[in-house]
Amino acid sequence: MTTIGIIGAGHIGSQIARKAVQRGYDVVISNSRGPETLTGLVAELGPRTRAATPAEAAAAGDFAVVTVPLRSIGDLPVQPLEGKIVIDTNNYHWERDGRFPELDSGQATTSGLLQKHLPTSKVAKGFNHIMAKEIGTDGAPAGTANRRALATASDYPEAAELVTRFYDEVGFDTVNIGPLSESWRVERDRPAYVVRQNAAELTENLARAPRTI
Ligand SMILES: NC(=O)c1ccc[n+]([C@@H]2O[C@H](COP(=O)([O-])OP(=O)(O)OC[C@H]3O[C@@H](n4cnc5c(N)ncnc54)[C@H](OP(=O)(O)O)[C@@H]3O)[C@@H](O)[C@H]2O)c1
Repeated sequence: MTTIGIIGAGHIGSQIARKAVQRGYDVVISNSRGPETLTGLVAELGPRTRAATPAEAAAAGDFAVVTVPLRSIGDLPVQPLEGKIVIDTNNYHWERDGRFPELDSGQATTSGLLQKHLPTSKVAKGFNHIMAKEIGTDGAPAGTANRRALATASDYPEAAELVTRFYDEVGFDTVNIGPLSESWRVERDRPAYVVRQNAAELTENLARAPRTI
């Protein structure tokens, strides 16, 4: 049985947890306020899910999902995520996160910043350009005509492969952008951001993305 450690139990974290449980994964989920604040979500998701601290969720996961505001990535536990694949849903909302000059200037990417914080993990971008509720509604079986596609990017091919398998299990095709240095193509306000698109359309939208907004 594969366990996913999820850090962040808000809009995206809870939707990914729901989909993962439906597909037979065990889930250990966490937030900033403590496991006792997640009893309602755990009760809804059922016996495959338990709540924990971020460090415990990270340690329990065969792989992890980090789905917290960008401003919080510096708080994430490093050692329990060592050697693990970490799916990163982050987007940069300067109105919420404060200014990150290296993002404003186009010298960094949101997932690149997480990779820097987690140098011994294998970060892969995932689920950042779909609205949370659509993770539950827009999935379709493999081979469905016009199936929605989502992008990933990673410096580690095995991490992009894991995201590709997971996307497929929860109902989405994948377009692999390549290394994290190219992941700006799917960041906020680019053409591929939170629009419904199949793999061909996503590929086109990634290609025409401007580096800075
Ligand atoms: N909402 C969307 O449709 C959407 C779509 C794509 C990508 N995203 C991106 O995905 C990320 C998560 O978005 P969201 O909408 O799910 O956010 P959200 O609903 O505000 O939930 C954020 C979660 O992160 C937790 N958290 C915050 N700081 C933490 C810390 N230091 N350690 C552990 N957990 C912490 C919060 O816990 P507490 O509540 O206990 O503080 C909460 O469970 C963001 O970067 C967002 O931009 C969102």
